[in-house]
Amino acid sequence: MEETKKKIILTGDRPTGRLHVGHYVGSLKRRVELQNSGEFDDIFIMIADAQALTDNADNPEKVRQNIIEVALDYLSCGLDPAKSTLFIQSQVPELTELSFYYMNLVTVSRLQRNPTVKNEIKMRNFEANIPVGFFTYPISQAADITAFKATTVPVGEDQLPMIEQTREIVRSFNRIYGEALVEPDVLLPDNKACLRLPGIDGKAKMSKSLNNCIYLSDSEDEVKKKIMSMFTDPNHLRVEDPGCVEGNPVFIYLDAFCRDEHFEKFWPEYKNLDEVKAHYMRGGLGDVKVKRFLNNVVQSELEPIRARRKEYEKNIPEVYRILQEGSIRAEKVAAQTLADVKAAMKINYFDDQELIQSQAERFGENK
Ligand code: TRP
Repeated sequence: MEETKKKIILTGDRPTGRLHVGHYVGSLKRRVELQNSGEFDDIFIMIADAQALTDNADNPEKVRQNIIEVALDYLSCGLDPAKSTLFIQSQVPELTELSFYYMNLVTVSRLQRNPTVKNEIKMRNFEANIPVGFFTYPISQAADITAFKATTVPVGEDQLPMIEQTREIVRSFNRIYGEALVEPDVLLPDNKACLRLPGIDGKAKMSKSLNNCIYLSDSEDEVKKKIMSMFTDPNHLRVEDPGCVEGNPVFIYLDAFCRDEHFEKFWPEYKNLDEVKAHYMRGGLGDVKVKRFLNNVVQSELEPIRARRKEYEKNIPEVYRILQEGSIRAEKVAAQTLADVKAAMKINYFDDQELIQSQAERFGENK
């Protein structure tokens, strides 16, 4: 009888900073929905500290401090340790071992062509000084995913090349050694605005160094201040001027966050976002009004997250305990995959009685 294929999620984040609303609409919110859908047999959410160290080797304290930040962000968004296994990458040494074997299946030029790696090398000015560990992190990411036999990887758009590379590794492995690994599918947000939320300054990416993020852990006041200072259409100078919604960060955020019920609650003059956009484009609708509405919408989304965060902040040792238990469970699963991989690669010498017996006979005959 053929076993029905299990549906398994693995995803994660580097602990290099607090998570922001871009992470939230791009992936976190979806993870919680998937978790609560009951459609998955297993869900693994990983804090990728080992990967964070590939370009922060000289700053381990930063990675260490941000583990608890990311864990709190996860838990406060509604990831539930009773339903999802939350764990820390470095605590599952099997992942490193798998990476080492996968390295044989990937060429240097293939890594050089990975668009995400290329882009990150440029951003970090690594050029001639690329740490090998950083260069090979797509391989380690393939280990993260395959160790849990993940079928589904919910991530942001920037991670697409990583999943593609993982799929290639899986196909090579299975072709050479036999079907031991599962080829994962990527799951991207279906709302276009959520694919890449710009910074509050309109820059394409939210980043700590640009100081243009709204963090999940920001206070109500901080969020309000940031939203009221957001860039809009630079040509929309007077209220009566026609405004542009295309590429306007305030409207991109509204596309990502607002639902029709928000209008009933916060802005009953309009039925939906299309009506607001039409008015803005005609002229006569000021930025401040739109920002106030956006603030109400975002605050209503962040409010329950903040409340849960407060609870977990009261019991930090418990959060570490959740991560420790998750890591123990994750290691068990990864160890099974590693055993399968080693058997497929024929490096399971001591488990293979047939091998020992046949070698004994071979040398016995020579006597
Ligand atoms: N690269 C991801 C990021 O930058 C983190 C990550 C590591 C990850 N391993 C993963 C994501 C495996 C999905 C699957 O946030």
